[in-house]
Amino acid sequence: MEKIVLASGNAKKLAEMQRLLEPLNIEVVAQSEFSVPEADETGTTFVENAIIKARNASKYTGLPAIADDSGIEVAALKGAPGVYSARFSGVGATDAKNNALLVEMLTDAPDVSRNARYVAVIVLMRHEDDATPLICQGTWDGEIVLEPQGEQGFGYDPHFFVKEKHCTAAQLPVQEKNALSHRGKAMAQLIQALQ
Ligand code: IMP
Repeated sequence: MEKIVLASGNAKKLAEMQRLLEPLNIEVVAQSEFSVPEADETGTTFVENAIIKARNASKYTGLPAIADDSGIEVAALKGAPGVYSARFSGVGATDAKNNALLVEMLTDAPDVSRNARYVAVIVLMRHEDDATPLICQGTWDGEIVLEPQGEQGFGYDPHFFVKEKHCTAAQLPVQEKNALSHRGKAMAQLIQALQ
């Protein structure tokens, strides 16, 4: 079995990656098993940040590494919060604070388009110096609603309206979200490439 390290401390991401890659004879191990220090996400693109994290995990483990980076881009905010989605509201950011700031910024400009999209990039680096990393990118178009709806999901989901489903991402069962989402699309590309 081929071993790949996942550059994330998120237990849900690890479990999902393990479930999807096991049939391909790939064992996914968490970077925490190797005491990999956190990498600073200094990139200004999702691709750069994913590469920084994967390279860091590969460097400290000597294994191929997978990393992901994701966020939401709002057209009227010129693509913000983008790569800063998790830390949009600054130090001590939480989903609630980030959503409150997003709503506030769009409330102040009532006539602007609320078009938005989620972006997910998943990168596989075969080794620390891999100059041709595998890059998989998925997007998911939606619209920001000022009133939160739904309890599922995380992050900006209660404010992300999915037109084709007539509800927010937080109102979709997890399997339906995975079938449509930015992350689901990037994962499908990764699996296809590994096959
Ligand atoms: P990352 O973990 O550094 O990739 O940060 C991703 C951030 O983008 C999360 O903290 C969320 O704020 C946001 N985000 C990415 N994907 C989703 C999603 O599927 N639903 C809701 N928020 C998301």
